[in-house]
Amino acid sequence: MAENFTLVEKNDKADILIVPLIKANDDFFERLAKFFSKETADRLKRGIQNRKFSVKPNAVLELDDGERTIAVVGVSRGLSAAEALETGAFFFRQAKKLCQADVFIPKEVSSRAAEFLLGMELEAYSFDKYKTKKKSEEFSQLEQVCFCFEEGGFNPRKLEEARALAAGVRYARDLGNEPPNVLTPEAFAEDVRRLEYLGLEVEVFEPGNLAENGFSMLSAVGAASTHSPRAVVAKWKGAPSRKDYDLVLVGKGITFDAGGINLKTAAGLKDMKVDMGGAAAVIAALKVQALLKSKLNVAVVVGLAENALGSQAYRPGDILTSASGQTVEIANTDAEGRLALADCLWYAATKLKASRIVDLATLTGASANVFRGHYASIFCRDEALAEALTKAGAVSGEKLWPLPFDREFDKMVDSEIADVKQIGQGMNGSTLAACFLQRFVKDKISWAHLDIAGCETLEKARPAVPSGATGFGVRLLCEYMKSLKPF
Ligand code: BES
Ligand code: MN
Ligand code: ZN
Repeated sequence: MAENFTLVEKNDKADILIVPLIKANDDFFERLAKFFSKETADRLKRGIQNRKFSVKPNAVLELDDGERTIAVVGVSRGLSAAEALETGAFFFRQAKKLCQADVFIPKEVSSRAAEFLLGMELEAYSFDKYKTKKKSEEFSQLEQVCFCFEEGGFNPRKLEEARALAAGVRYARDLGNEPPNVLTPEAFAEDVRRLEYLGLEVEVFEPGNLAENGFSMLSAVGAASTHSPRAVVAKWKGAPSRKDYDLVLVGKGITFDAGGINLKTAAGLKDMKVDMGGAAAVIAALKVQALLKSKLNVAVVVGLAENALGSQAYRPGDILTSASGQTVEIANTDAEGRLALADCLWYAATKLKASRIVDLATLTGASANVFRGHYASIFCRDEALAEALTKAGAVSGEKLWPLPFDREFDKMVDSEIADVKQIGQGMNGSTLAACFLQRFVKDKISWAHLDIAGCETLEKARPAVPSGATGFGVRLLCEYMKSLKPF
């Protein structure tokens, strides 16, 4: 996937100069004159005065009275990472019609340069490969961007991190936006295999060896589709001398969720191609670790299947035997995600000997309805893990909200004729799904389940997040992994 634009060290006479402005005072104009030219500083000063521009966050003033366009964008001192991301999106909107842009980075906000860059990159994203007649003016023209740091502000590693993160989010969005007739479980698995060029180890299980490796419930979920299921295990070993994993990520990868025999309604089918958003996020987060040559050992397990209907479909009433030995009474074939995830969690725990697991899944309509895409729910009994993830959520703007799943709820997934019931009775569907998963994760494992339903797509674009697949979770996970100390 090509980059949106190249970051260069110097743009000779870029078409546009973007100036984040905190306060229009003499000190600022002097610094600008010193860095660029007196003419530039004077134009800016005049423009601000003539147009009575008042500096408010993301307010824009465009000046076209000279050799090149100058765009002033208001920023507040001490802006948060999430605010800086939005501001970066505004920078991109100003620059997209031109080829080359200079972005002045005043020393007061140089610590946010990486978020500015990330915001520009994420705003530049569009999924247009299936548009054969798109008008050329709809495409971004921006080819080169130069960040012009005042002395001491330049931190190349942080910019490199932002670029890798942007590539990861783009990748997750592309996977989410691909139509379900193209991104089948097989195609998804092949796409992950392509990441081997970055040094990832990738193993794919397919119908011939899926069930015998513990993915029997995933096999049942995918049985009715002509696009057969896959499980993918991908590993980044940043510390090859150690055998253990610092983190194992698990993702739900339903490439289309029709509901199965418990067929969804027409409204319910909307966006169900993005029911693999959890898998996309964890794979993309792993790609970012590889791009940055992280020192962590991280593995990913994703269960890929299409939940279709047909004579081969699993049914409500079926009893499945999971690799853990527990039998599972099926009550509703539309609760397929937890089955796929349970197999992946079991694999992570037993085959990869994970001691820390985070799973991401578009698991329940209940979570989508409560949080409306503004939060994902987090289920986690390990306080330290919950705190670290919640903090990463706040910093990245991909926010988490805790829901309970104590022992009182757990008995609600007991079955009368098997060991576990796939869905419990009650309106608290997200909690019951978490209780089900918990039956497949041993107590000693530090584990968090993130129900990202509703966060994986967006109807109306907002700064740095387009409509369609959002790539939710990639930034959250990468922020969390930055805080992770290797075992
Ligand atoms: N993929 C859906 C959950 C979902 C709904 C994600 C809306 C994103 C937006 C999941 O597989 C599902 O169908 N869940 C059912 C479970 C129910 C049948 C117990 C639900 O939550 O309604
Ligand atoms: Mn479903
Ligand atoms: Zn689903």
